[in-house]
Amino acid sequence: MPSHPQHILITGAAGFIGSNLCEHFLELGYSVTGMDNFLTGKPSNIAGFYSHPNFCFVEGDIRDKSKCGEAMKGISIVLHQAALGSVPRSVKDPLTTNSVNVDGFLNVIHAAHQAGVKRFVYATSSSVYGDHSGLPKVEDAIGKPLSPYAASKYINELYAGVFHRLHGMEVIGLRYFNVFGKHQDPDGAYAAAIPKFIKLFLEGKSPVIYGDGSNSRDFTYIKNVIQANEKAAFTTNEKAFGEVFNIAFGERTTLLELITEIKNALSVHAPNVKTISVTHENERPGEIPHSLASIEKARNVLGYTPSHSLKAGLQEAVTWYLENI
Ligand SMILES: NC(=O)c1ccc[n+]([C@@H]2O[C@H](COP(=O)([O-])OP(=O)(O)OC[C@H]3O[C@@H](n4cnc5c(N)ncnc54)[C@H](O)[C@@H]3O)[C@@H](O)[C@H]2O)c1
Repeated sequence: MPSHPQHILITGAAGFIGSNLCEHFLELGYSVTGMDNFLTGKPSNIAGFYSHPNFCFVEGDIRDKSKCGEAMKGISIVLHQAALGSVPRSVKDPLTTNSVNVDGFLNVIHAAHQAGVKRFVYATSSSVYGDHSGLPKVEDAIGKPLSPYAASKYINELYAGVFHRLHGMEVIGLRYFNVFGKHQDPDGAYAAAIPKFIKLFLEGKSPVIYGDGSNSRDFTYIKNVIQANEKAAFTTNEKAFGEVFNIAFGERTTLLELITEIKNALSVHAPNVKTISVTHENERPGEIPHSLASIEKARNVLGYTPSHSLKAGLQEAVTWYLENI
């Protein structure tokens, strides 16, 4: 396949979202450099790409200046995904979260600027809405951050704005809302709810819900996030530069409803899951009770149109977990 003139750097390439982005842009014929230090990402997520003629990999830490400089060679677009996720992890270890998510972010955007990269798309998070209780969440109306993770992502948005205003970089922030899909890690203390629940149900175990299950989220399938990154990478609409956009499906599902949806998707393959009950524990600090995105800004400025609802995404995700757990 002839290599496409645009060369994309995807940081966090071995992680959930990064590896899905690598796969997508390689399939479209772009040259892709992946960068990761395997802190939470897995070699198996990118093992299939090494033999691809348009893929190269820089193993390194985004806090390492020279590695970032190496990764920027020939790059015209950066999709920055590398970060330390999880609100509870950041509450427990704010220093490492800050070091990776803030120092690392600044290192990557600075290296991109020094290498003359104009388009810088980065992952931020719905956690930035913090204690603002309004629903749906609209980009300009944020509250105070409730966790070190949320603070780190908000600082990313501030720095991206500075690089846009100072250097004219075409920065675009994508505020992801609870993303799920293939390659998302179901294991470990800080695993996200959907893969963790799927795995526990398949093992015949009862998942823990923190709180009474009435907390809600705008669960977003990975293919919607891929679409948003593609739109942001190639948009010519100048109104997008220096801005942040909610990336979600635009529907709210409580945790108890989520459990039912996962059981429905799984029961086709494993009918016994319907009989498994959930257990409840106290809510964890730093979590937002409800989350629902307005996606009008992304729709109007980027042309983002999410293709997969929670139900449609779960059908695909469950199929992948059944083959890969
Ligand atoms: N998954 C979600 O629901 C969600 C929601 C909002 C925002 N985000 C953001 O999206 C991005 C991707 O998240 P994900 O869910 O794919 O997480 P992930 O943990 O699967 O992927 C993150 C990747 O970054 C890598 N990484 C971490 N620290 C690094 C460092 N110092 N140097 C190099 N690589 C490093 C990890 O090894 C991993 O491969 C993150 O910025 C995250 O904060 C994710």
